[in-house]
This record gives sequence, C-alpha cells and structure tokens, in this order.
Amino acid sequence: MKISVIGLGYLGAVHAAAMAKLGHDVIGLDADATRVSVLSGGQAPFFEPGLPELLDEALSTGRLRFSTDYADVEGATVHFVCVGTPQKCAENAADLRFIDAAFAELLTHLADGDVVVGKSTVPVGTAERLAEEMVATAPGAALVWNPEFLREGLAVQDTLHPDRLVYGLAAGDETSETVLNEVYATPLSEGIPLVVTDYATAQLVKVAANSFLATKISFINAMAELCETTGADVTQLADAIGHDVRIGRKFLNAGLGFGGGCLPKDIRAFMARAGELGADQALAFLREVDSINMRRRVRMVDLARDVCGGSIVGRKVAVLGAAFKPNSDDVRDSPALSVAAQMQLQGAEVVVTDPQAIANAEAKYPDLTYVSSAEEAAADAELVLLLTEWAEYVQLDPRALGKVVAEPRILDGRNVLDPAAWRDAGWTYRALGRP
Ligand code: UGA
Repeated sequence: MKISVIGLGYLGAVHAAAMAKLGHDVIGLDADATRVSVLSGGQAPFFEPGLPELLDEALSTGRLRFSTDYADVEGATVHFVCVGTPQKCAENAADLRFIDAAFAELLTHLADGDVVVGKSTVPVGTAERLAEEMVATAPGAALVWNPEFLREGLAVQDTLHPDRLVYGLAAGDETSETVLNEVYATPLSEGIPLVVTDYATAQLVKVAANSFLATKISFINAMAELCETTGADVTQLADAIGHDVRIGRKFLNAGLGFGGGCLPKDIRAFMARAGELGADQALAFLREVDSINMRRRVRMVDLARDVCGGSIVGRKVAVLGAAFKPNSDDVRDSPALSVAAQMQLQGAEVVVTDPQAIANAEAKYPDLTYVSSAEEAAADAELVLLLTEWAEYVQLDPRALGKVVAEPRILDGRNVLDPAAWRDAGWTYRALGRP
C-alpha cells in the first residue's frame, strides 16, 4: 500500500520504517529539514535500539523516502498522523498546535477514498472535531483513530509486534477497517488482538492505559514512603504482592518515579480534559498520582542531604543517568536530570554522565557538568547517585568504583543494585523505600 507518515519523532520515524518493513511504500514527512536528511541517510535522529538497522533495511528496498514537502504525500492512500502533543506551557492541557497544523496542511492534499489515521495521543473529542473539519475540506476521505502504545527503547519491537491494535471508526465506516486490516496484515496474521470501536473509546484507551501505568508506579512509590517510615523493604513488598496474578509484578519498580514525554503529560492532559467535560471528580486521583511521583524527586535530594551529614553545599556529587529511562536518549521530564539540577541549585557540585543522553541533557541544563563515563563522574565524588538504571551502571563493580571516589556513599534511585554487595565493598548504600 502507499502510505504517508506525518511527523518523524520517536513515534513517526519508527512507524515509517516499520511500515516499509511490512512491505508498504512509505513517504515520511517532517517540517525539520535536518531530521529528514539524517533519516534519508539511514541514520536515526535519536537513540533507539534497532532503528538504524530497520532504516537501513527499509531504505535499501527503495520503499522508504523522506521529505519536507506536503505535496509528496499525494499518491499515498493512507496517511498516518504522528506529530507530538506536548503539555502546554504552564497549563496541564495538551498543546494541539502541531496536530491542527498537520491536519490543515494534509487536508488540502487528500484524494477521494484516502484514509487519515490519527496516531498521536489527543484529548478525547479531538478526533470528532477533526472529522468534522475533514467533511468540510476533504469530504471523500475518512478518519480513523489508531492509538500507538510503543515504549521508547523497545519501539521497533512494539511497532512490528504490538500488544494490541485499536481502531476508532466513524459509525458505519467499514471501508477504513478493511484498509487498516490490509496495512496491518502481517501483525494481524500473528494473532495480535484487534479492538474495533468508536472515536471516543479509541482516544480514551490510550490515556487510560498510560494513567493506569502511572497509577501503578505511584502506588508502589506510596508504599515506598510507608516503607521508609516503618523500616520495611519496598522491593520485597513488590515481589510479594506481584506474585498475585491479579496484581502482577510489572510496573511495580519503586524508586525515583516516572518521567518522559508521555506518562506525566498524558495524565495532566487527561485531568484537564475531564475538567472541561465536567467530569473532574473521576480523575481526582490522578492529581495524587502526580504528587506522589514528584515527591520522590524531593525525597531523593533530602536523602542525599541526609547521607552527607545535613548539607550538600560544596559536595561533589556524581549522577549516573540523565535519560528518563535506560535505552533512550530522551530527557523530557527526566527524574534524573530534575534531581541533578535541584542538587546543583542547592549548592552541590554535580557531575552527570549518561551513555546516550548527554547532548540532549546539555541542551536542556547547560549549567551542569557532563562527562562520558561513570568512572570519570565518580572521580573524587563524595556521593554517587544512580538515577537511570542503564545496564552498565547496574553492573558496576563496587570495589573498582570504591577506589576512585572520595567517599564511598551511593544512593540507588532505581532499586537495582544489590545492597549487600555494595555494603560488603565498604559503601554506605541507601535507597528509596528500603532500610
Ligand atoms: C509509555 C508507555 O509505557 C507506553 O505504552 C506508551 O505507548 C508511551 O508511554 C506513550 O504514550 O507513547 P515510555 O514513556 O516509553 O512508554 O516509558 P515507560 O517504559 O512506560 O516508562 C515511563 C517511566 O516510568 C520511566 O521514567 C520509568 O523509569 C518509570 N517506571 C517504569 C518506574 O518508575 N517504575 C516502573 O516499574 C516502570
């Protein structure tokens, strides 16, 4: 099939390459000329495991091209809209500027029978509004809402083999369902579950899923707060409750909490939308989910002050990790960077390292000092903070690292180190929610 993908960020770039891999003829479009030329050269504009290989493979078939010119989407019959919907500045609501601009431009290039497929995360009601605009400008085209559930770091796998597919269709639109079944013929043939529904449900599925995941994380972090006051161990608590299959162990890793470009802004946009719909009470609990999450960052700084004997002023602190999670270079709302910046503001001398995210971190927080390895960051440090659980930090040898620091003190912000191994090597080990 001939497909266009509008917006080549973490979602669209992977989606475009994956669609070509599935055998379709794909044109990827983005306003950023640098991004388009990087992708055309077979390079990923951000760190995502497996994406460079996927791009290489797709480009070599001749079925994947990139452009900045909307006229190039003409000829494609299915158009995926993958632009960002960030949080508005100083407001909880989503900023729909990019999606509105993409639709306004796209609609002037559509032909009768084309299917526009919204993948961006939007406040419920957006698809209905955009469908109305389409009736006025491109009456022969149809709109489907098909939310995306990929995780950064696992985006290639999640796009090629998703957990489920959801199509939100206009009433009676069986044609678009057939078209999407053809687009996704390969994953559907693997038996991937398909939910066919209306626009409102499809848009809500996405934010409901992210809200549930955020709630699970904040639940275990609330338990961590109680563990801290009672001397209990939140990791053992999570293991024990996780054995109940109704609860499950996944997304019960207590620590510094959630960040990134999705969970924080999605729960806030969901609350804002519920407020507009007069249903704010239904999501009042998400305010608490957000507060618990933000409190973990404050608690981390307090713990650092505590282990440094009451003050971090002038203390040399090594921060391991800047990305919001491992296997990503994304620093949007990164808990690690937020703690690093807070400690620097409070007078510590902070040195940050990360295997992939230093360039992005530096652009956001130019006042922090960055080095390229954990050993360099830890040199003469009076405190080491593990804030993003990259495998290479989890596997650090406490004896070797103990030789380069000034004081062997480590705070495990992600509960991933073996406390006994670090204590045996002479370190003061502290973590969130553990004795
Ligand atoms: C999240 C969802 O997991 C995806 O399903 C969704 O498609 C995506 O948002 C999106 O809306 O686009 P992502 O932001 O890539 O994916 O990252 P997650 O793996 O969900 O992690 C989010 C944050 O939660 C990270 O900061 C991570 O460190 C934290 N986390 C995760 C915990 O603190 N504890 C856990 O047990 C799990």
